[in-house]
Amino acid sequence: MKIYGVVGHPVSQSLSPVIHNAAFEHLEIDAEYRAFDVRPGDIGAFVKILAREGIWGLSVTMPHKEGIMPFLDEIDDIAREIGAVNTVYLENNKYIGTNYDWIGIKEPLGDVKGKKILILGAGGAAQAACYALKDSKVMIWNRTYEKARELAGKWDFEALKDQKQAEIIINCTSVGFDNPGKSPADPKIFRGAEVAYDIVYGPEETKFLRDAKEAGVPKIISGEQMLLHQGYAAFEKWTGEKAPREVMRKSFHLVLGT
Ligand code: ATR
Repeated sequence: MKIYGVVGHPVSQSLSPVIHNAAFEHLEIDAEYRAFDVRPGDIGAFVKILAREGIWGLSVTMPHKEGIMPFLDEIDDIAREIGAVNTVYLENNKYIGTNYDWIGIKEPLGDVKGKKILILGAGGAAQAACYALKDSKVMIWNRTYEKARELAGKWDFEALKDQKQAEIIINCTSVGFDNPGKSPADPKIFRGAEVAYDIVYGPEETKFLRDAKEAGVPKIISGEQMLLHQGYAAFEKWTGEKAPREVMRKSFHLVLGT
């Protein structure tokens, strides 16, 4: 049996095991997907035991997306350009780091050419969003302005000191992750927006998306889409099979009771 898993800290709230195990079972693949709670200082030691434990692939989540990089055998071009790893796969006895978070941002948005986009945040998720949207006109706001300026500089985007209205607004901060009653966005910026995308998922709708709905934003995308789309890509890389999307999506809702 092949073992896969998500490595994070904390990780018990992750629904990655649910969606991947549902897919393995549906396709009758002899594999199991687990959750590995690993503290930041232990990630190097954890990577060293992957082969011994029969682990064929990993999803990488907070806070290891950057910290795991020096310990892997190789980092592919996309992960290097984004500056973070969210998926590890085994090829020719080498553990290779890649990043599919950008797919999780790009696919649900569809064609956004020529649109004015506002990204909130400048951490790992925002870096993947910049890669996904590198051909668009993007503004970046972050609580710590200096980090927004640095990220905007890397992609030739605009850094904002104050939030501004945009056609597409994406929450790439961790606000809402453990407190769905909190939003990083000034509700005024939703006026006239076409799309609001919150990459955070959980049992409750986040305040960010509730505010967007109240302001009449027609297209609301929740963090479920981020989890699923990066998950489909990882599953296909690991197994070479087409991801059973409906099975994975349904398993997510079954567990959340939504
Ligand atoms: P991730 O990999 O999920 O992006 P991260 O790299 O730790 O996680 O980044 C977290 C992001 O959420 C950052 O942009 C952070 O802003 P700072 O750079 O100012 O720390 C943002 N963030 C976290 N808590 C926040 C809060 N209470 N208000 C506003 N932004 C917050």
